[in-house]
Amino acid sequence: MQAAIIGTGACVPDQVLTNKALEELVDTSDEWIVSRTGIRERRRAGHDEASSDLAYSAARHALKDAGIRADEVDLVLVATATPDMLLPSTACIVQGRLGLKHVPAFDLSAVCTGFIYGLSTADAFIRSGAYRTILLIGVDTLTKFTDYNDRTTCVIFGDGAGAIVVRATHEKKGVVGSTLYADGSKWDYIYVPAGGSRTPSSVADKTNCYLRMKGHDTFKVAVRGLEQAIVDLLERCHLSPDEVDIVIPHQANVRIIEALTRKLGYPPEKVFVNIERYGNTSAASIPIALDEAVRAGKIKSGDNVLLAAFGSGLTWGASLIRW
Ligand code: ACO
Repeated sequence: MQAAIIGTGACVPDQVLTNKALEELVDTSDEWIVSRTGIRERRRAGHDEASSDLAYSAARHALKDAGIRADEVDLVLVATATPDMLLPSTACIVQGRLGLKHVPAFDLSAVCTGFIYGLSTADAFIRSGAYRTILLIGVDTLTKFTDYNDRTTCVIFGDGAGAIVVRATHEKKGVVGSTLYADGSKWDYIYVPAGGSRTPSSVADKTNCYLRMKGHDTFKVAVRGLEQAIVDLLERCHLSPDEVDIVIPHQANVRIIEALTRKLGYPPEKVFVNIERYGNTSAASIPIALDEAVRAGKIKSGDNVLLAAFGSGLTWGASLIRW
């Protein structure tokens, strides 16, 4: 059995936060943000908009694209670091809104690498025969945990959700393989100090409820990690780099993507980039980009599609899909 992707969907909030608007909030400039990150604007969830709202909408689009009813789904997975609340899982909230009765649902947390971890999990469940049709959603609303007085982080993050429907098939298509990695010794490269059991929000200082990031250190590890994940994956799948038709990397910083592209020797037109419109949407970045690439006709049947991400944890990994 292989895990084929039979539908994709995405949802971003309506509110657009431009670099010009950020110039009003912190000491920054459109020129600095574009040249250092590639980001021109990002989307920001409204006060009454939570991760499950974006996730639900992306899921609906993916189910429609797959041409299946919600009740054909037999497992719901949500990759997120920004659940609606500590408990229950956002997956359960989405499952309930979809009207799915008794279908298992759970969140998994690997921050920006969450979608790759989720895809690998879905693939393993399908190969084992445990489930036939899995709804996988990557969603994050990191702007809710962003300090708009901190110019080193507030220019980076945006909100969004992307979803796919994965189905068991006997055909030679779908997930070929994945590589997953973590280095917990670097947990403090990107983290939110409060809101969990170490410092519950009830006793937390407001400033500790915001994301902190060692941007420069993360940058260096990211390029090395992404390269390792991709080289190992292609070797494991017995594929040469030029057999890859399209690369969809996590959209964290266009300079990271360009450095990776140079190291791997891919022509820029093989690498999908949409960071200028969304910023870093964490677990949503790859499924949003995948959905856009599919809709733009950039992926055709039989193509080898390479996904790669890194993020807080630290975590990193890659997946190869035969479309
Ligand atoms: N506007 C203007 N100046 C700024 C801004 C800003 N928005 N942000 C930082 N600066 C300044 C700094 O204060 C510093 O000034 P100084 O030299 O006077 O001290 C200078 O610019 C250089 O700062 P660096 O941090 O070295 O800038 P860098 O080129 O590394 O860019 C960035 C920063 C964009 C954060 C980059 O390091 C990056 O993208 N890192 C990776 C982030 C990432 O991908 N995280 C992983 C995923 S996130 C997740 O998992 C949730």
